[in-house]
Parts: sequence; structure tokens; C-alpha cells
Amino acid sequence: MGSELRFFDYRETTPLTGGQVDDAPYGGGAGMVLRVDVVDAALRSAYEESGRPGRVLLLTPSGRQFDEALATELALEPDLALLCGRYEGVDERVREHLATDAVSVGPYVLSGGELAAMVIADAVIRKLPGALGHAASPVEESFSEALGGAPEYPHYTRPAIYRGWEVPEVLLSGDHERVRRWRLERSRERADR
Ligand SMILES: C[S@@+](CC[C@H](N)C(=O)[O-])C[C@H]1O[C@@H](n2cnc3c(N)ncnc32)[C@H](O)[C@@H]1O
Repeated sequence: MGSELRFFDYRETTPLTGGQVDDAPYGGGAGMVLRVDVVDAALRSAYEESGRPGRVLLLTPSGRQFDEALATELALEPDLALLCGRYEGVDERVREHLATDAVSVGPYVLSGGELAAMVIADAVIRKLPGALGHAASPVEESFSEALGGAPEYPHYTRPAIYRGWEVPEVLLSGDHERVRRWRLERSRERADR
């Protein structure tokens, strides 16, 4: 199954003249606010043929924290729209009436939603069937169910000794059960840090 990324510029579909997309905030204050009619026009234009997407994510620092569980949930959706803001943010009516979710990529403020959208797109797309070369690789990785939601254990490869830095003996033992237990223990250790 393939995936398709489409990019939209609010200025190309804005109903306002001169490519205007934002306006001064009611109540005063610094910065400009992305208008609700502009976002609505962009969504209508993007989905005029296929209808509304299943989930419309507004990217905002005040949203639900994006994590592996949300990535897994979103990977099941046939279509996602990621709404990026700039400057002071987005008219609250977008969150109330157009978006299905408000999502944050972390407790810090970016200049715009574009990088947040790329982070989410990457984490979601790699969960789609056929996205990764080795079918088993996403099963036992950081935050997966297989590891009880904990970070992944450490990996090592050749050489077995480099500048005196040795690979843990258990990984060279050929004892699969010991290796399995050692990995689970290291994973849990990382979760406790
Ligand atoms: C400068 S920020 C606006 C910050 C807003 N005034 C606030 O205090 O929450 C501009 C845009 O960047 C995006 N953005 C910034 N930080 C983000 C984060 N942590 N997660 C998701 N989007 C973010 C949002 O789309 C936001 O509308």
C-alpha cells in the first residue's frame, strides 16, 4: 500500500485579496492570527473531490502530546490533514469546529507547524505496511507493546572489541534465552531513567 503526501499553501486558496491569510487578534496583543475562513477554504479545496478527511490535526503546543500510541492510532486512518500555524497561532474556531484533534510534538514552541507536521508524518508513515525494509523491525522497538512501552535495548555489531570497548558477553554467547532476558532488562532500565 502506498502513501501520498500533498502540500497546501493557505495563500493559494485564501478567499481574501492579496494573499492575506491572517489578521490582528481581537482583544489586542502582539502577533497575527491565522483566520478560520482561510483554513476552511484550504480544507474545502484540498478535499473537494474526496470529501473531508477522517482526522484533521491542528498542530499546537497546547495540544495532546504526540507519542507512539497516537502514531499507531493515526496510521490506521485512510487520510490525515495536518494544519500548521505560524506567528501567534490559529483562530480558536479552527480547533473547535474544523479540527478533530489538537496535537503537540513537545512542550516547547516552534516558529511554525511545518516541522511538527513532518515529525508526525514520518512517525506515522513508517508504520504503514511495506514502509520498512524488514517486516519485523517495527515490532520490537522503542515504546512498542513488545517492550511494554519502554525504550529499546542497546544494539551492538562488529567489531566485538574496539579501542578496548567490549560488546557485552551475553550477546556473543549464542544463548537466545539469555539474550532475550538481557535485552528486556536493559530496556526496563532505560525506562526507569
Ligand atoms: C510560534 S507558534 C505559536 C505559539 C502560541 N502562541 C502559543 O503560545 O502556544 C506558531 C505555530 O507553530 C506550531 N507549533 C509551535 N510549537 C509547536 C509544538 N510544540 N507542537 C506542534 N505545533 C507547534 C503551531 O502550529 C503554532 O500555531
